[in-house]
Amino acid sequence: MQYQSPFENWYTYSTVHKPLPDFTCEPGLVLFPPELVPGVGHPLIDKLGNDATRRLTMRKLESYNAFTEKLEYKAVMAASIKIAQNPQAFGLSEQAGREARLIVTDESHHAYVAIELIKQIPGFSELPPLTATQPRFLRGLEELERGLPTELADDLLIAFVSISETLITSILRGIPRDPRVVSAVRNTVRDHCIDEARHHSYFVYVVHQHWASNTPDRREILGPLYAKLIRLFLDPDLDLCRGWLLEAGLDARDAGLVLQDYYSHERVAASVRADSFPTLKLMERVGVLEHPAARPAFVEQKLID
Ligand SMILES: [Fe+2]
Ligand SMILES: [Fe+2]
Repeated sequence: MQYQSPFENWYTYSTVHKPLPDFTCEPGLVLFPPELVPGVGHPLIDKLGNDATRRLTMRKLESYNAFTEKLEYKAVMAASIKIAQNPQAFGLSEQAGREARLIVTDESHHAYVAIELIKQIPGFSELPPLTATQPRFLRGLEELERGLPTELADDLLIAFVSISETLITSILRGIPRDPRVVSAVRNTVRDHCIDEARHHSYFVYVVHQHWASNTPDRREILGPLYAKLIRLFLDPDLDLCRGWLLEAGLDARDAGLVLQDYYSHERVAASVRADSFPTLKLMERVGVLEHPAARPAFVEQKLID
């Protein structure tokens, strides 16, 4: 696939060249769409009153921003630096390698804004810190890496970032236009979306080239890996959510019930399929889904029938 730079107008359109978003928090508006916060609207949480709902919503926004920061630093920037330093290793053009440095700049800015946003939201400074755990995706990546030959470690990271950068999650899609949500959050997500549209085109090219440039025996490994990486990125972090529900005032049994209702197998499977739709289409176009080792893995991960 020919590289067509999505960065021609980078100096004009990238949000790192713009002022910080307007961080206004209108009283009466929510910090996050309620249906995206596990437990909000559930009778067991309603019984606890408005404080529980507000606390859960704050935790959700906090974790969304902490996740953004870690994903940018630990995954997307790390992968883009590898691409910048050795584009040929992944079948990429010299220009694509040079421009990976612009992604590093964009992502560093996203991490900065994510943390600034949290600092600006009223009430966050009084929130007690939750025990810091490693994000689920990092634990998952480490586990997958242990099962792979060492020379595939970089390919694992590039594949994971290709997946995360081509997925359009429901959060990024819906929030900027959601009138229920405070301007601070809508503006921040909108700015992030503007840059991510360029990254999406870039990583479509990366997936094509990375797959096409791999040897048949590496494709045997890479194909099924894509399916696992999609689930790794999109599956909910149940332990983290359980912590929020306990903090909001539920006992362990009720927290378990709320999680079972919110994250039923059917609901998770349906949302993973909806969110991964553009990436699954890409996997089809690139030829990953035709690969005899890959297709059964996508079926096993319940991404296709
Ligand atoms: Fe980003
Ligand atoms: Fe990105």
